[in-house]
Order: sequence, then structure tokens, then C-alpha cells
Amino acid sequence: MRIIALAAAFGLVACSAEVEQANDEEQLSANVYQAADGYDPNDYVDNFTLLDHEGKAHELYYFQDSPAIVVMIQGNGCPIVRNAWADYKAVKDEFSDKGVQFYMLNANKQDNRERLKTEAAEFSYDIPILKDETQLIAESLGVKRTAEVLVISPEDWSIVYRGPVNDRLGYGEQRSTTDNHYLAEALKAVLAGERPETRIRRSKGCIVNLPETAKRAEHAQISYSETIGPMLEKNCASCHEEGGIAPWAMTGYDMIEGFAPMIREVVRTKRMPPWSADPHIGTFNNARGLTIEERQTLVHWIEAGAPRGEGPDPLASRVSDATEWPLGEPDLIVEAPAFDVPASGIVDYQFPTVLNPLDRDVWVKAVTVVPGDKTVVHHALVGSSEEVTKPGEGDYSDVFDNYLIGFVPGAESYVYPEDTGVFVKAGGEFRFQMHYTTSGRATTDRTKLGLYFYDKPPKHPLRQQVALNLALGIPPNSVGHEEKAYFEFDRPATIYMLFPHSHYRGKSSTFEVVYPDGREETILSVPDYDFNWQHTYSMEEPLSVPAGSRLIHRTQYDNTGRNISNPNPERTVPWGLQSHDEMLYGSFMFRWTEETADNILHDPLQFDIRQFYGFADRNMDGKLARQEMWGRLAKSWDEGNLKQADADGDGALSFAEYYGMTLARMKRAQAAQQKSR
Ligand code: HEC
Repeated sequence: MRIIALAAAFGLVACSAEVEQANDEEQLSANVYQAADGYDPNDYVDNFTLLDHEGKAHELYYFQDSPAIVVMIQGNGCPIVRNAWADYKAVKDEFSDKGVQFYMLNANKQDNRERLKTEAAEFSYDIPILKDETQLIAESLGVKRTAEVLVISPEDWSIVYRGPVNDRLGYGEQRSTTDNHYLAEALKAVLAGERPETRIRRSKGCIVNLPETAKRAEHAQISYSETIGPMLEKNCASCHEEGGIAPWAMTGYDMIEGFAPMIREVVRTKRMPPWSADPHIGTFNNARGLTIEERQTLVHWIEAGAPRGEGPDPLASRVSDATEWPLGEPDLIVEAPAFDVPASGIVDYQFPTVLNPLDRDVWVKAVTVVPGDKTVVHHALVGSSEEVTKPGEGDYSDVFDNYLIGFVPGAESYVYPEDTGVFVKAGGEFRFQMHYTTSGRATTDRTKLGLYFYDKPPKHPLRQQVALNLALGIPPNSVGHEEKAYFEFDRPATIYMLFPHSHYRGKSSTFEVVYPDGREETILSVPDYDFNWQHTYSMEEPLSVPAGSRLIHRTQYDNTGRNISNPNPERTVPWGLQSHDEMLYGSFMFRWTEETADNILHDPLQFDIRQFYGFADRNMDGKLARQEMWGRLAKSWDEGNLKQADADGDGALSFAEYYGMTLARMKRAQAAQQKSR
């Protein structure tokens, strides 16, 4: 007894024979599991989303049509888990193709992602190890020891079996054969539509140190007034206020108490506050999110009954700090045309445009978007263009012609990095991409854009480019299909901002840099992409990359029926502007490190061709080979036209060859035009 308590208290992994002895002293009856604090075997398993050791997101309730989900509690350095793996894997190999999902779950404080990767590689774990970094999930599952497996039935989300994989393993000893295949028997029962006869078996494994389970009583002392209220005020109330985008306002304790179970759910599933970047990769100066400690405190307070306690109510006395123009009176205000938002239903993205009233060129220093009706404007992207769109012809990508700002509630303003600005030429138009959500009440929105100008040109022009794939194709009923594209910087560049975009089937996205020396670095990972939240990721430290570096954008798609937003899983999905089609669209803002406003180095032709190469060159070897060509391109090659550009005769077009050919053609066309005048 004492040893266990001590081991738990000091976070030691207890796996010795002494522990077993101590365990026996506990007089646990052979088949009855002593439930950990708070675990009732009749409890449902509430939904959760966790990232695995590779940074991929997994949501439990995604598998609601599976016969069962199996989770083995894992811990690095625990011999029982390592030994049980072969048996667990055998069960996995037998039942995976029957739709059963297999996971490991690690809640050990000492096991971080890097250590999990090492352990997984060393012991050949080929299933996701879910990292429960707040320990909240393990606590609610009543976890005590590693090597225990939990079989969860999506029928009612109950745990239909918990215990060892089989009877082979003990502390310090193991048998070579197994008489009782508990897990396999349990799964057979579930697949036959029955429940396993024995629901709970005592399991041997290393104790998982969950210190908060012993402190349940203290959780009732967490102060609403001093801790919870201020936390919600800081992280949530800018949206959850009267007239804000969120459907309910955090106006005081009674609202929080009422929504407490729902708050617990959105924290466990990482839905709120809205922010999708993997916190292990990169730091962003517009990041949202609660820290591990904050999430623990908030959920523990809710699980303790969300007590009001003493002290004033910070949310009741909160005054919204929303002023119309937080950066001061703008130099130019552009008002989008009024749009009538219905009370309910889904509103397609809107693409209003407004003629640029300026008769002079300007350098923009900062921008603010003021939604006309905050309850319906979910996001707004704004750009400018020298061209004027015909009515009804605007689309998603138009705003990126000369991109200015991506607005989501709580991020109204964007001040461009020091000494950089976006050039807006006189004439043309401003372009909006508006995403409205209905709020139950019909309303009219009139969103405004405020622009702030430099008095004299800034040092560096800020530029925007996209790694995209116009030739994508996502197979029907597939999950994990990947599309990728790169942009190669032909001169040194400094990257400031990243913006991954796909539609309803987008599942996860990354941006990676591949340096000329081959080194790779992931600079943004969005493991759980949500079409509804178009976040811009603004890098805390701008990244300077040498000439020859590539920025690679990848997106994985979920084109199955399990993806509830999927409009049609039976379709091979092509590129398209509408949400029922797809995109691979990785926009980024950067500057040419050596470019200044009075020494423009930018070459628009090269820019365009590099964008095309970034997806046409599927194997990313820097050349366009015949087998990578399609449509008109392939035809032109076969007819001999393109082939002429293959100066070195290697059967493929390098970027330089293609660029040289295009430039020569343009010059010829220009000359011909001049002649005919
Ligand atoms: C950027 C704005 C924003 C912030 C910040 C934000 N929310 Fe929300 N919240 C929303 C919106 C919008 C919804 C409606 C659902 C949606 O659109 O995803 C919502 C919905 C919810 C819901 C209801 C769940 C549901 O199914 O709709 C809860 C609970 C919630 N938020 C809690 C929180 C908590 C707790 C925080 C802070 C830790 C927070 N939110 C921060 C915008 C926000």
C-alpha cells in the first residue's frame, strides 16, 4: 500500500515485484477491478480529441459507426506494455479489417512527444499513441495502470471490457502461452452483437501517476472569482459577449454554470477557443488556446460541480473593450455592400467588391475589418486588385490577388511586420470573401474595411503567394489522401504568415521548409482543419530562408461518410471554387529579403511559373517530365513544340528551360504586336 502511494506521489514508474506484493495486500478480488476515483463502470465515455505521437488528431466520436474502439494504456519504459504489444498487435491484426479501431493512450507526465516517437520506433508500435497531456481523459476513464485495454462500444459509448489483453503477463514473469484471450473474446462478443461476459478484470501494469485524482476534494476550492472568471474573460469573452459571433454570451456566473458541461466538452475536444495549430510546432503571435494547466483547472472546476464560491463576478462586471477602430481613425474606409443574412440555413460564401476610390498609389501599413453585424460574420478575407470583377464572377482565390487581411472574430486588425507594407495601386477594386453564419435572427450586414497608409514607402514590399494544386483529384470514400505543392524561392526570402485553405473535406495541413542542404523543418501543422475557422497563422519569429529553399504545403483529405461535412463521399473530387469541390491552397506572406521599395526585384512571370511548377512537378525533382504532363501540355510535348525547350535533351523541362521558353515567346509576341501597330 505504502509503496504504491509513494510511487504515485513521486511519479515513479512502479513495476517491481514489490508492487505486486503490495497489490495483493490490497485484497482485490481476482476479477473485480477497484475502480479509480471518479470512475463508474456504467459511465459513458465522453467525446475527446487527442493528438498522437506524430501530431495527428483523433476524435473518439468520429468512429461512431465502428463496432468497437480499443485503447491500451501505454507508458514508456514499462516492460509489461512492451511485452503485451506483440499480443495486442496480434489481436489488432485479426480485428482491424472488421472495422475495430486500435489505439494506445499515454497519460504519463514524463513521456513527451519526442520520447513517444523514440519508444514507438524502438518497439515497432504501428498504431497511434494518443497523448493525453492534460491527463483529463485518463482521469475520466479511471485509468490506474498501463497495459490495461479498454474496449469502448460506440453503440452507447460505454466501456464493455477493461482488463488485460490475455493472461500471459505478470510482473517480472511471463508465460509462453496463453489460456485466456480476454480481449479477443471480448471483441468476438461485440462483433456478434453481444456484451462480453466479464466486463472488468484486474490488470497488471505500471502505475500511471495521475496526481489530481487524489485531489478531487480540493478542486471544489478553485475560485470562480479569481481563477475561472478571469480565464474565460481573457480567452473567450471577446466572442462570447452580447452581440458577439458566439451564440451565447459569458455575462456572469449563471451562464457559465449552465454551460459548464458543454464547456467541458469543447475543451476536451479542443473545439474552443478556436485555434487549430499543433502547439508543438511553431509559435504564432495571434495564437489562441488555453495552456495545459488552464484546461486542467477549468475542467476540474467543472467536474467539482462548478462552484460559485466567494468574491465578485468578473464576467458580470465586464465591459466590452470593442471600439470600432482599435488602431484609430483609418486613412480610408471601404464599406462592403449591404448583405441580407437569413435567420437560418447555410449561406454560400459571398464575394462583394468595391471600386477603389483612390486616385493615387498607396502603401498600406495596417488594416482593420469591422463586421457590420458581429453575430453573423464568421470570417472575412480582403484583398485588392488592379482589375475589376464582373458582377457575380468573384471567387475564393480573387482576394489573394493582392491580399490584405484575414479577419476572424477577436482578430480584427493586422499591423504588417515592421518596415513592410502592401502596395495598392490606384484604381481597381477591393475584394471581400465573406463567410456568414446564420444566428436564428434575420439581419443585414454591412462590413467595413479600414486602411492605414505609410506617409512614405516602407523599406520592404510585403508579398503574397500560394502553393496550390489545380490538378488535384481526391478518390471517393478515401481518408488520408494527400495533395501537395511547393513554392521555390529563387532568392532569399523572409516568411511572415501562413494560411492553409481547403474545403469541407480538408482534414489536416502542414507547411514545411526544405532548405537547399536538404534539411526539412515543419513550420505549421494543423492536425484538425476546420473549414469554418479560416485562421491566419502569423509567425512570432519571421523565418528567413536562403535562395533555393522550398516551402511545401500539404493537405490530407477525408472524403468518407464519417466526415459529417462531406457533401458527397462517392465522388472523385476535382479542384473547384465551390465548397463541394476541393482546394489545396497554401497562401503565405513574405518579403524578398533583399528587395526594397526603391529596388524592386520581383519578377511576376517567374512568380507565376514557379507556382505552376510547384504542383505540376509531382515528384518534386525540379523538372517537368513527360509523365508529369497532362492535357494541353502533354499534347504540346508530343507534338514536338514543348520538346524544343528541352535544351539539355534530358527528356524533361527544368524550370530554367521552361522560363526561358515562356520569356522568349512573350518577347516574340510583343515584337509582333509592335510591328502590327
Ligand atoms: C473567436 C471567437 C471565439 C472564442 C475566442 C471562443 N469561442 Fe466559443 N464559440 C464561438 C462560436 C462562433 C461558437 C458557435 C459554434 C462554432 O461556430 O464553432 C462557439 C461555441 C461555443 C460553445 C457551444 C458549443 C457548440 O456546440 O456550439 C461553448 C461551450 C464555447 N463556445 C465555449 C468557449 C470557451 C470556454 C471559450 C474560451 C476558452 C471560447 N468558447 C472561446 C466563438 C468563440
